[in-house]
Amino acid sequence: MSAWIVLKFGGTSVSTRERWETIAQVARARVAEGFRPLVVCSALTTISNQLEALLHHAVDGDHEPILAAIEEKHRSLAADMGVDADELLGSHFAELRRLALGVSLIRDASPKLKARLMATGELMSTVLGAAFLRRIGVDATWCDAREMLQAVREPNTNEGRRFLNATCGATPDPELQARLAALPGILVTQGFIARDEEGETVLLGRGGSDTSAAYLAARLAAARLEIWTDVPGMFTANPRQVGSARLLRHLGYEEAQEIATTGAKVLHPRCIEPARRHGIPLHVKCTTEPELEGTVISTEIADGNGQVKAVSARAGLTLVSMESLGMWQQVGFLADVFATFQRHGLSIDSVATSESNVTVSLDPGANGLDRAALQALTADLSRHCTAKVIGPCAAVSLVGRNIRSILHRLAPALEVFEEQRIYLLTQAASDLNLTFVMDEEQAEALVAKLHALLFGDVQPDGTFGPTWRELQGPAEKRNAVPESWWRRKAEKLVALANEGQTPLYVYDEETLAESVGHLHSLPVDRVFYAVKANWNPEILRRFEAEGIGFECVSPGEIAHVKALFPDLPGERILFTPNFAPALDYVRGFEAGAWVTLDNLYPLQQWPALFAGRSIFVRVDPGQGDGHHKHVKTAGNYSKFGVPVDELPALAEIAAKNGTKIVGLHAHVGSGIRTAERWMQTATFLAAQADALFPDVRILDLGGGLGIVEKPGQEPLDIEAVGRNLAQVKAAHPRFELWLEPGRYLVARAGVLLAKVTQLKQKEDQAYVGIDAGMNALIRPALYGAFHEIANLSRLGEATTLRADVVGPICETGDVLGHGRMLPPTQEGDVVLVATAGAYGRAMSSEYNLRSPPAERLLPRD
Ligand code: LLP
Repeated sequence: MSAWIVLKFGGTSVSTRERWETIAQVARARVAEGFRPLVVCSALTTISNQLEALLHHAVDGDHEPILAAIEEKHRSLAADMGVDADELLGSHFAELRRLALGVSLIRDASPKLKARLMATGELMSTVLGAAFLRRIGVDATWCDAREMLQAVREPNTNEGRRFLNATCGATPDPELQARLAALPGILVTQGFIARDEEGETVLLGRGGSDTSAAYLAARLAAARLEIWTDVPGMFTANPRQVGSARLLRHLGYEEAQEIATTGAKVLHPRCIEPARRHGIPLHVKCTTEPELEGTVISTEIADGNGQVKAVSARAGLTLVSMESLGMWQQVGFLADVFATFQRHGLSIDSVATSESNVTVSLDPGANGLDRAALQALTADLSRHCTAKVIGPCAAVSLVGRNIRSILHRLAPALEVFEEQRIYLLTQAASDLNLTFVMDEEQAEALVAKLHALLFGDVQPDGTFGPTWRELQGPAEKRNAVPESWWRRKAEKLVALANEGQTPLYVYDEETLAESVGHLHSLPVDRVFYAVKANWNPEILRRFEAEGIGFECVSPGEIAHVKALFPDLPGERILFTPNFAPALDYVRGFEAGAWVTLDNLYPLQQWPALFAGRSIFVRVDPGQGDGHHKHVKTAGNYSKFGVPVDELPALAEIAAKNGTKIVGLHAHVGSGIRTAERWMQTATFLAAQADALFPDVRILDLGGGLGIVEKPGQEPLDIEAVGRNLAQVKAAHPRFELWLEPGRYLVARAGVLLAKVTQLKQKEDQAYVGIDAGMNALIRPALYGAFHEIANLSRLGEATTLRADVVGPICETGDVLGHGRMLPPTQEGDVVLVATAGAYGRAMSSEYNLRSPPAERLLPRD
């Protein structure tokens, strides 16, 4: 007897003729491999929802239109398939009509009737499918799943659970195996439905088709279970939110279960257990692209190493926080509290306790939560404690085996929580997940950040596959990760490095223009370039010619700009000093620049300086953002900006002093790649202006626009920034919007060229020395920043050497890149350090009395 293989196809995978052709192709391939396939199908897409709606409408006697729509959907597929709908489905259509009529007469639908009605969805899809397979020459037999799966009677179940959420036995069944083996060809059956001891049709609850397939695989002792769906497998994060999410090629059952439970919707968590118990490998495959490898779920590879496999998020959680001072003196406090939840029929998801507080989370999937239910609960709880409802919240989970053993490696990833309020932190006893519960609106951005931190460096291997974006085909791949300009111009760069001195910063004119183009596409009224990022005169000239203004932080920067452009009107200069001496403000006003105040002190102590002036105020929105804690510029532990609670006092002092506040400013940090950030800043500033500052007509949203530094990082979606800002403009037309980016305009365009000086090997650690050190580029040492490093002299050669790339400076921290893959490298080779156009030369020094690098502009061809 051949080995069984169970193939499950979901709603979108059975809804068109093309998809059924794929099913035929897959089933034939399995036969050719020597298997006997059992094909398990869902109802056509949207049909289950329509059947549910049919029930509701039938109660009001209004079921005809939905009945017609359900029939039409099946007729249209039958017509495409060239099979006869009336002959095949006539009896099912009639049964549906009878059931709907019954409901309309009684004006009520029992769970038993609902189960019968819903079951027709799967019955119809499989009847059509089996007929089509036969029509195209595939030997196929239609089977009734209710003859194969029997519900287990559970004690104390109510009607609803019995008929709509049944559980089936999953022990291997030789009788069933023999019975099915006697049937000819490929077997086609339904997911989602079974029969109980009394012969009644029952349903297996949400996601029931996956579960059916797993039960059947177990009962047939199948060699494999394949779940065919509309995504190409399981990913390190929800790929629709995080484009750089990587395919998970292989997962253990427990990990897959955990990922499915903590948010991913690819597989229903209930389907994994039967497969695990019987050691049946589970493959997740994509019907639209059957050739893709998908995800294999099977026994763990016992390597013992901990590894985070996914970041997942589950929204819609509600927390209940319960305070009680004498908790531990009160015998039975927890029992009382939990009994209250039980009385209200609410199941608890996770719990955190301290001496005076117990906080629990409630999952809406398991609880019918509405306001009234929560009010009744808190009223009842108030007999034992002070209860507070917090929500909507989201749970963000890091999932992977032995997560406890790798906590120390998570440290940088956990930095993102510095600015977030975490209500609850749980670590599963199974050591498979670490979960943080926070405000729902934070979750999406946080998942993106955690994902970038945890998976930004990951290279494909046996566990991690290509990214979602890479799987989306070449066009999107090109858009998302533009090929670095310096690869195209490598020869010229090597020539530049060889003809003059190294280290050398080179800026690509073409790339500068490209970045300017991106910013010009945004619906903002003015762009001021943050001169601090790079004050190279050639670059400033190009920006000036494009109509860009200049944001300066010191009189020195103002003087530099003025010297380059003597005729530049003052209003194209924005001065944003911080903790500067009084004289600096004088210089700013003398230059005719827009002057920004970011503290009350100057106004209180030096009022005469500001009397009769129109100024900007920099506000601290309370929450910073950015690639490293040193560049987050908001919140109580950042020295920038006026806190919101001081704004009323500031408005009053300014008014008394005759100082007019015409603009509000906020810059929350640097290196941000979440497209909503500037819209949030704008909305925040608009609210402050509306409340307190009637003269404000400009909102300066700061800079901070990030770029991709590490391969695999999610780029800032500049078009989305634009769409978001357009919304702000529509909502607040009275304000001009300004931006003051530094990095975005120059970072990608700049590279640092250096020459290899010496090589060294200490045991297993290799070093490649170059003539640029931390005095030339301090970002790696200061922020742990990643700059791609390439050996330009040997581009294209196999990278077989893993080495730390170090400079000549007398500090152990003088490392430009750790553990980089390079080709076998030699003294004199030209090495390139990428994305160094911003805060590179500008932050260089003469440390060790080594001169900062020279600079060159690479003109367009
Ligand atoms: N506006 C203000 C008020 C700023 O403080 C800054 C940067 C900017 C604009 C420009 O930010 P950008 O668009 O470049 O992110 N040295 C660090 C970055 C420090 C940023 C300081 N302020 C680095 O290398 O990452």
